[in-house]
Amino acid sequence: MDKLVIEGGVPLAGEIAVSGAKNATLPILTAALLTTEPLTVSNVPHLRDVTTMLNLLAQMGVRVSIDERLGVELSSARIAEPVAPYELVKTMRASVLVLGPLTARYGEARVSLPGGCAIGLRPVDQHLKGLQAMGAEVAIEHGYISVRAQRLRGARICMDLVTVTGTENIMMAATLATGTTVIENAAREPEVADLAHCLNAMGARVRGAGSDVITIEGVDRLHGARYRVMPDRIEAGTYLAAAAATGGSIRLTGTRPDILDAVLEKLREAGARITTGPDWIALETNGAPGAVNVRTAPYPAFPTDMQAQFMALDSVARGTALVTETVFENRFMHVQELKRLGADIEVEGNTAVVKGVAHLDGATVMATDLRASASLVLGGLIARGATTVERVYHIDRGYERIEEKLSKLGARIRRVR
Ligand code: EPU
Repeated sequence: MDKLVIEGGVPLAGEIAVSGAKNATLPILTAALLTTEPLTVSNVPHLRDVTTMLNLLAQMGVRVSIDERLGVELSSARIAEPVAPYELVKTMRASVLVLGPLTARYGEARVSLPGGCAIGLRPVDQHLKGLQAMGAEVAIEHGYISVRAQRLRGARICMDLVTVTGTENIMMAATLATGTTVIENAAREPEVADLAHCLNAMGARVRGAGSDVITIEGVDRLHGARYRVMPDRIEAGTYLAAAAATGGSIRLTGTRPDILDAVLEKLREAGARITTGPDWIALETNGAPGAVNVRTAPYPAFPTDMQAQFMALDSVARGTALVTETVFENRFMHVQELKRLGADIEVEGNTAVVKGVAHLDGATVMATDLRASASLVLGGLIARGATTVERVYHIDRGYERIEEKLSKLGARIRRVR
């Protein structure tokens, strides 16, 4: 298994380009199931989760071709098996995103129940509630969710809580339903809006994506399209936090500052100077960061996917910070590992009290999930001496060529196979 070895203590400096967004790419790839014509997606990041999704679609009978610049063409003219098996769903919960499109186009879908995961229970009851409201029959059999529907009907659906992939599944299902569907309390994440733009490019009629009420007028069929995925806001936020935590200065290109407001605000509060243009962000620091409290919540509030990285920053900040996680019930797995690097963190319920220390010291730490791993890489970049991050496959799920990008910023980091 690969490891990352980091010699810390170097302030990050330089310029890198941000990759396409993982959490926009995954639903957009499943949208290919909604049409018999080819969907061509560009700016697709080279990530393990993307490969897993492409394997899942190929296994169902989707023809997948990838060009050398990571453009992906998907053709779902025929689907052999509308099934997402346990072996794939257990490695990537986002596999559940095939449920809405398969039900809408094929009238049936079987998806393994995802079960628990490292960051919490993560049930899919809201996805199922939405499909049932649209007339689907849902059964749980032998560990699988089975959904059947002749043709879905538009419905008014009020989500009990804000769910990103739940909103995406219902939105995709509704594009081919009869009549109009209204999703209330919809997720406002930019990735939901990006999916809606792609669906509209395919001939769907989706309005309001990006707000908490989305209206979808069903159409009889969707057609092929070409679509470029939006930039990854969490990847951008991670490199900015790494630069702020190491007292560095970096510039990111190919990004969108308008979808990073909550994160940029917190970096400014930590003392960083940030300037932006339409597609770039520059960050400069002046010494160690100041402690910043963060409280995660659905977009546009501070993202749960940036919580662990800010905890690494707070661990060497001046002062004490409160980090509160409200989206997932078990997303503090990185705390014990950051403590191995010398961080002073106490967890009380869903809040971590992080007392800034003068420095961290390198150690061997273990990645447990994607964003927890990113916080350990940040810890390693900050720490004196060598840090080894084990189980790097978690990082490869969501960060494209992380050691290459960090090396470009001057970090001393290498992958050991
Ligand atoms: N929830 C339910 N019932 C449901 C759906 C969700 O109770 O039917 C709960 C979850 O258990 C959780 C909360 O609602 O406590 C929010 O979960 P959500 O459904 O929004 O999460 P998700 O759609 O499974 C996406 C991202 C995650 C990101 C979350 C929150 C994708 C593929 N994944 O997950 O990304 O953390 O939204 O923003 O879009 C990551 O990239 O590292 C990652 C975990």
